[in-house]
Amino acid sequence: MNLTINRQQLVTELETLASFSDAPAPAVTRIVFSPVDLNARAYLKSLCGSAGLTVREDPVGNTFARWTGREPNLPAIGTGSHTDAIPFSGRYDGTAGVLGGLEAIRALQRAQLRPRRSIELLIFTAEEPTLFGIGCLGSRLLSGSLRAETARQLKNRDGKTLDEIRSEAGFGDSLDRVRLPPGYYAAFVELHIEQGAILERRSIPLGVVTAIAAPASLRIAIEGEGGHAGAVLMPERRDAFLAAAEIALAVEQAAKSTGAIDTVGTVGVCEVFPGAINSIPSRVRIEIDFRDTDLARRDAALAGIFKNCDELAARRRVTIEREMINADAPIQCSPLVVDALTRACREHGFESLPMVSRAYHDSLFMSQIAPVAMLFIPCRNGVSHRPDEYAAPEDLARGSLVLAQALADLAG
Ligand code: GLV
Ligand code: MN
Ligand code: MN
Repeated sequence: MNLTINRQQLVTELETLASFSDAPAPAVTRIVFSPVDLNARAYLKSLCGSAGLTVREDPVGNTFARWTGREPNLPAIGTGSHTDAIPFSGRYDGTAGVLGGLEAIRALQRAQLRPRRSIELLIFTAEEPTLFGIGCLGSRLLSGSLRAETARQLKNRDGKTLDEIRSEAGFGDSLDRVRLPPGYYAAFVELHIEQGAILERRSIPLGVVTAIAAPASLRIAIEGEGGHAGAVLMPERRDAFLAAAEIALAVEQAAKSTGAIDTVGTVGVCEVFPGAINSIPSRVRIEIDFRDTDLARRDAALAGIFKNCDELAARRRVTIEREMINADAPIQCSPLVVDALTRACREHGFESLPMVSRAYHDSLFMSQIAPVAMLFIPCRNGVSHRPDEYAAPEDLARGSLVLAQALADLAG
């Protein structure tokens, strides 16, 4: 099979996709169901149509573009990623796997492959948690990890429900129809930028992901007592922000205390009420992202944070309410798909590195309904979720080539 990647086309398509953004270039902001997201979807569907793929969308906006195989009734081989982008991020997170996946399919078409199984490009809705506070919304629903009734309770920060938002965007059918039937995919492979610097530092062009770490996401509401920043003396205070600050430090301490490099904790959201320089904060809401590759270790560290919360609530005379947004389990990837990717790297003469994904991905949830693995390409300085995120054209093309080879192998 003579596989060739049209590098220029892939780069141009990534550039065009990046232009659908609510932030000035090079930053990309593309929140799910926003007008720019809907325009990006229209662009992607037109590309898939031009490649002769059959496109369908489900009620939450997951988009499937299928290249029908010789035996269309067999479970398909899936590939893909997401195209939503967190505020002021870059142009490659997720998109490399969507457009790299599409180019892989076109490369197989150019090589005159007639796959036995269908090969399907899947563009997931809302991998990023920006709008609803929960990541991987589309793949959670597809895999049945999130039930439709629970998803219907999701709201954005203005209190608008998922159903309201998606129906305004033109996705009106019931969420009950999103879940995929058992055996829909025989395998799923996701191409993604590494979002770390291991490949670059070791000068290894490709990573084959063998395990994916999983986050627990928590929302913590602290209620103290407000007052005049000059008049209320320090011993009298019940400052909600100072309690939040202690929790943030407890998160750092808990992440470091496991001694494992794979444990990480972040407080990425902190809303202070009333938010005036001369007013003692009476209410604070923080959101914590805490991750590990080992579930028991992660949960033990979280238990330490909760104990700390109880102690400091009593000491600072504040109330602390905890809401677990999600607590997902890490996964091991499927040897079937890992082997297909490793073989594909070898076949094309590329060294590859087995590695852990510390970022989460839709593959984490797809693993509940199909054998999955991921292919990583380097990104400059390991930078991601920033406007200066960058993947070199040769790395994008190499990823797409190896993906094509693995898809051909899995599709038979
Ligand atoms: C995905 O974007 C993550 O936060 O890992
Ligand atoms: Mn991301
Ligand atoms: Mn991503």
